Amino acid sequence: MKHFTINSQRLKRDFEQLSEIGSSGDGGVHRPAFSENHLLARRWLQERIIEDGLEFFMDGAGNHSARLSTKNPGAPTLLMGSHMDSVPFGGRYDGALGVLAALEVLRSVCDARLELPCNLEAIDFTDEEGTHVGLLGSQALTGRLTPAQLLNPSSGHSALEAGLQRAGLNEAGIFSARRDPASLLAYLELHIEQGPQLVRACTQIGIVTTIVGMRSFTITYTGQADHAGTTPLDARKDAGLGTADFMVKAHARVRHDFPGCVLNFGQVHFHPGAFNIVPAIAEFKLEFRSADLGILNRMEQALLDLMAKTAEEHGLGVRVQPHGRLDPTACSPQVQKAITETCELLELKSIPIPSGAAHDAMMMARVCPAAMIFIPSSSGSHRPSEYASWEDCVNGANVLLNSAITLINQANL
Ligand code: HGY
Ligand code: MN
Ligand code: MN
Repeated sequence: MKHFTINSQRLKRDFEQLSEIGSSGDGGVHRPAFSENHLLARRWLQERIIEDGLEFFMDGAGNHSARLSTKNPGAPTLLMGSHMDSVPFGGRYDGALGVLAALEVLRSVCDARLELPCNLEAIDFTDEEGTHVGLLGSQALTGRLTPAQLLNPSSGHSALEAGLQRAGLNEAGIFSARRDPASLLAYLELHIEQGPQLVRACTQIGIVTTIVGMRSFTITYTGQADHAGTTPLDARKDAGLGTADFMVKAHARVRHDFPGCVLNFGQVHFHPGAFNIVPAIAEFKLEFRSADLGILNRMEQALLDLMAKTAEEHGLGVRVQPHGRLDPTACSPQVQKAITETCELLELKSIPIPSGAAHDAMMMARVCPAAMIFIPSSSGSHRPSEYASWEDCVNGANVLLNSAITLINQANL
């Protein structure tokens, strides 16, 4: 059966240019959502879209899109994309490859002069990484976002407001990004695996079956400031010690009682923080993940109980602010099948694979058939050394292009 190919030189040119925007100088990028670097990258994308003669569109959540409209009025849209925001000092492939490959699909369809019965759209979702609110753009587009999430972003409400302002957005407008699910034919996302499975399996393509669920919190332990030299160790209400104690016990608990699950801590702050004052306040971020909803809920209860017990043992107050609550998500069997058939057509080895990372596809899967295409990545992820071979990137983009066409042909529009 006929298949199509992307223009790998054009994709490589874009990838190299985008990797320079917010480059951290060591192969990585620093483009937290709504930072100057992130906004520069979005302006660069908008220029590329207009330069290509595609329609540029930005919604109330700041999601940036290239659109290729069909002549069929009222036709649905096949959406492809990912995110250009990054974690602080992350890798240059995470998200960016998926956005650029989606744009390259639209260009390749134009080059091939294909007249499609539906619209094609390449999207860059806002704040996938949760600098403020994880999966912000895809939650808004799918109508899942709540005002409470904007009131309680992990960055703090004033930081979110300032970021929205820099981007020319406002809280009320974010909700206008919601799409009618009937307008969406399907969603496809190309992404690096960010783990070792494909490299270990010597396989070129991963077809994502399920996407992990996760919960995230900000926890504040409150003790009492005291003189670090004169206060006996057994007479302290040390918020820092309570935090360290909880971290060690939480890791042991998850490792022992929830095998295969993960947890992580970030942004630990002690206040006042001077080395000669017993920490009065300790604030830290916690997130944990499981591919099984029941296990995720049991892990959440176990960790909340441990949090309270540790506070009591150290004579501390405790405040728990919930942030992200993402349930484990199954990808569409129909879309997975289209990707599998495409890999056979392109003679690429593929395996079904679960995702230990969260993705915008988990939101899209709640409103339309959605699945993901993984390519092998090595040298870790969420760090500058993140790497994928260019051959694998091109394979992934070709699978994205041909899977999209397969899905459209199967839709009998
Ligand atoms: O954290 C994640 O799983 C994703 O990279 N945002
Ligand atoms: Mn990421
Ligand atoms: Mn990502």
